[in-house]
Amino acid sequence: MSRRALTQYLELLKQSGIQQLYREPVKVLTPLDKKALLESLAQKYSDCDKCPLAAGRLNLVYGEGNENSHAMLIGEAPGDSENKIGKPFVGAGGQLLDKMLEAIKIKREDIYITNIVKCRPPENRNPNTEERLACLPYLVEQIQIIQPKILLIMGLVAAQSLLGNTNTLSWHRQSCHEFMGIPAFVTYHPAALLRNSNWKRPAWEDLQAFQKEYEKLL
Ligand code: URA
Repeated sequence: MSRRALTQYLELLKQSGIQQLYREPVKVLTPLDKKALLESLAQKYSDCDKCPLAAGRLNLVYGEGNENSHAMLIGEAPGDSENKIGKPFVGAGGQLLDKMLEAIKIKREDIYITNIVKCRPPENRNPNTEERLACLPYLVEQIQIIQPKILLIMGLVAAQSLLGNTNTLSWHRQSCHEFMGIPAFVTYHPAALLRNSNWKRPAWEDLQAFQKEYEKLL
């Protein structure tokens, strides 16, 4: 991990309330361990009240997919359908996401999908800093369990939150970043593509760049 990426990451952890890091040997988790651990953590956090988003929660949307995948996809926050069903990307944006993944020969069930915040913000507004930081330890924990080798970050809010900057989406696209030392690609959020189809072409270029690196891992 570069010094800059490490500093950003540690600063983010500090802001999210993580006070100490222990240098433990990397635990080897079997596929069954990972599944059981993630299920028990989803259950444990289902009544989380660390931030005001708890008030509008019908279901905590922890994440789903292949916990043994090399790739993890990180969106922004659950919307109305996700809040009702308890799974990420199941609304209109989710249908587009499935097509985007299909275009790069990935099935939704091949990868693990989650969001930076696990509860729906009211009226689908962007999650604020307090909400993002309250939820960050859950994402960090998911990454530690799943140990993905590549990340696909969907949209500006998720990119800025994880990469610790306020740069534009254009700045983030088409280069490989790092989060927790893991290569991270950024592209448009499916909801943005539903609003503006002119972004579909650049999104396709981003997905191809991600696909190229992902396929090297298979
Ligand atoms: N938008 C997201 O960012 N995540 C979801 O799960 C659904 C919509």
